[in-house]
Amino acid sequence: MIKNDVITVGLIGLGQMSGGHRKMISEIEHFQMGALCEVNEEILHQIGDEEGVSKEKRFTDMEALIADPDVDAVVSVVPNHLHARVIELCIYYQKPLMAEKPFTLDFNEAENLTALYEKQPIPVMVGFSYRYVASFRYAKKLIAENKIGPIRHIAIRYLQSGGAALFEKPYAWRFNKAVSGTGALGDLGAHMIDSARLFVGEFRAVSALMETFITKRKDPVSGETKTVDVDDFTSFQAVLENNVIGNFVTTRNAVGSGNQHEVTIYGDYGTIHVNCERPNEIDICVRDEKDEEGARPVFKTEIVPDSYRKQQFQDFADLVTGNEQPNTPTFYDGYQNQKVLDRIIQSAETGQTVKVD
Ligand SMILES: NC(=O)c1ccc[n+]([C@@H]2O[C@H](COP(=O)([O-])OP(=O)(O)OC[C@H]3O[C@@H](n4cnc5c(N)ncnc54)[C@H](O)[C@@H]3O)[C@@H](O)[C@H]2O)c1
Repeated sequence: MIKNDVITVGLIGLGQMSGGHRKMISEIEHFQMGALCEVNEEILHQIGDEEGVSKEKRFTDMEALIADPDVDAVVSVVPNHLHARVIELCIYYQKPLMAEKPFTLDFNEAENLTALYEKQPIPVMVGFSYRYVASFRYAKKLIAENKIGPIRHIAIRYLQSGGAALFEKPYAWRFNKAVSGTGALGDLGAHMIDSARLFVGEFRAVSALMETFITKRKDPVSGETKTVDVDDFTSFQAVLENNVIGNFVTTRNAVGSGNQHEVTIYGDYGTIHVNCERPNEIDICVRDEKDEEGARPVFKTEIVPDSYRKQQFQDFADLVTGNEQPNTPTFYDGYQNQKVLDRIIQSAETGQTVKVD
């Protein structure tokens, strides 16, 4: 547990996603950016200058950053095949970690890490960022208050369009199984799994279908045409805790969609719908006390109270100072998420329903 008034953060991986993380780190009073690691030296120095990080705290080797005694906590935003190595090093050097999702490349890595972690645990938060959308947080509270009664089924979709043929997206690590593990499934589907676990509970069984629509993409570096070996689309149905049924769809081929992660939760007495693209609104269909007897309830959109807004790095700050908040996504959530991803792949490959123990 860190007791310092100022917590020095080391950030590894300075690509696309790191901009949001840098902003969020800068918003936390007790955090200061103290070290950076990136294999692309041009980016390393450009961001080093922007962040005011001294030259000796700019690393190209992640172990050097993690081992640095001046670094109190690590934030990792590297491609998926490096997640396990970062976690392993943080366990070895006993540094608290905020790690991006998916937890690891595959379930085998997650199991190996768990054996290490259980011997020498550290605070680990996993980047399941939709837990910090105000409407999702409010929905969780309404469900806990039994607003819609016992949940019977849940429908989750996470739609993006960037992979559609229309946009001729070039080859990148996200299309390479050896680096990404899976395609839309791990990239977007990991968030759907996390939302289902948050609102309902653990998965018991899955039955899945995975498809690659665009099988060749041009590599902008080599100019070669490369084969895509991960999914553009995954759908699955699941049985969760208390026999709740789940229906899930994720795709990178939904032309017209932006970043559409939406969840509908159906209970005995009502329905709740949240969409991350409308983070401060929630759609609720329940019988209103003012409704006439026998009247059919209709959906009403409510504005989410301000008190449900929370920035995810606040929970990381609380976690590293020994003040873990409810619903913080931790090592265990990463591990369970990876297990469900693994069972989905097994199901799609075998055409069978697969149990999740
Ligand atoms: N939580 C979310 O909603 C969310 C959204 C987007 C991405 N992500 C996750 O964040 C991670 C990074 O995604 P991205 O879009 O930023 O990828 P990116 O490719 O844009 O950035 C990754 C960066 O890591 C650097 N890198 C590669 N190997 C490295 C090494 N050994 N040491 C240091 N740096 C190294 C790359 O040069 C690159 O700059 C992925 O795991 C992704 O799944 C999460």
